[in-house]
Amino acid sequence: MFETLTKAPADKILALMGEFAADPRKEKIDLGVGVYKDEAGVTAIMTSVTKAEQRILANAKTKTYVGISGNKGFNAAVRELVLADTVDAKRVRLLQAPGGTGALAVLMELLYRAKPDATLWLSNPTWPNHAPMAKHAGFKLDSYPYFDAKTRAVDFPAMLAALDKLGPNDIVLLHGCCHNPTGANLTPAQWDQVAASLARTGAFPLIDLAYLGFGDGLEPDAYGTRAVVKAVPESVIAFSGSKNFGLYRERIGAAIVIARDEAQADVANSQLMNIARVTYSQPPDHGAEIIRTILEDKDLRAEWEAELATMRNRMIRLREKLSEAIKAKSNAADFDFIAEHRGMFSLLGLPGEAVEKLKTDGGVYMIGDSRINVAGIPEDRVGDLASAILGTMK
Ligand code: LMR
Repeated sequence: MFETLTKAPADKILALMGEFAADPRKEKIDLGVGVYKDEAGVTAIMTSVTKAEQRILANAKTKTYVGISGNKGFNAAVRELVLADTVDAKRVRLLQAPGGTGALAVLMELLYRAKPDATLWLSNPTWPNHAPMAKHAGFKLDSYPYFDAKTRAVDFPAMLAALDKLGPNDIVLLHGCCHNPTGANLTPAQWDQVAASLARTGAFPLIDLAYLGFGDGLEPDAYGTRAVVKAVPESVIAFSGSKNFGLYRERIGAAIVIARDEAQADVANSQLMNIARVTYSQPPDHGAEIIRTILEDKDLRAEWEAELATMRNRMIRLREKLSEAIKAKSNAADFDFIAEHRGMFSLLGLPGEAVEKLKTDGGVYMIGDSRINVAGIPEDRVGDLASAILGTMK
């Protein structure tokens, strides 16, 4: 059987995780995979999550199936968190999915069933798993300009010009906030222009919302998604609870469909349920029940929001510290963009050899395209990191 196969390519992010774990050096620094770490370098369980789990454990009476669409309370709470009252709930359907990646997978399959000859447009650059997933779904791929390597900001005129040329046979994958890998994001005014462009051209938005609350706050981070959803008749969103609830290994996300009307929402939902049934049947409940418990309880929700703010503010502080340290050591403002970026990542713009040198000489691990996870920066070693980065540029 397997002699007909050759080895599949490893995912570069997950492969780096393994390499870091195997590195015996004590002073190594992990700026690789997108996992939040606190001051102690630990990915701790949020206290709101622990409290929710205690309640769940005390009250749970059964482990029977919950159904293909998953936890109804979770779905309703996520709809409210992501969309608030942006659109009539009658047009919205949610399918709880195994993580943000699971949500993307079922949505891509739904869109492929609907329009197999559509072209799926990815930002250049994008999360390295987007293209393999879209190809796996069957789509033809193309990319739109996004990042200006010189300014390390969004090349918005180029992006908009590319989007303006699209039409109803195009699907545009947008990062709802906290762009991965660049860290460069659209302003609210630019989101409005993107939304107007999509409404004008009829291109279909697929929004990847994996970092809600990691940028500027829950409401500001939802702005772009809501602007797009409001402007166009149909859209889909892949929501992840991995990062903002710290529930990485629970695999909790949601596929959200906003249809033209209630009847089409039901049709799309039946297809989503069918995709889930023939793939994994039903999603795991634990992560969903945790999020439902937190979002439905006023006190737990406030506690979660405060914990989320602590994580967000720490990432912003680390951004400022690193860009200041580089500036202090080099007398140049070349890395000020780190403080401007938002979310977990920044693309430093270092060449591949520099990334390799940082790893082999300094034990500093980042993704090959020079993406760093700012939450991985040890606060007491910002100076060392700044020197190591500058050292590659000599
Ligand atoms: C990342 O980009 O590092 C995260 O989204 C983790 C992953 O699954 O790649």
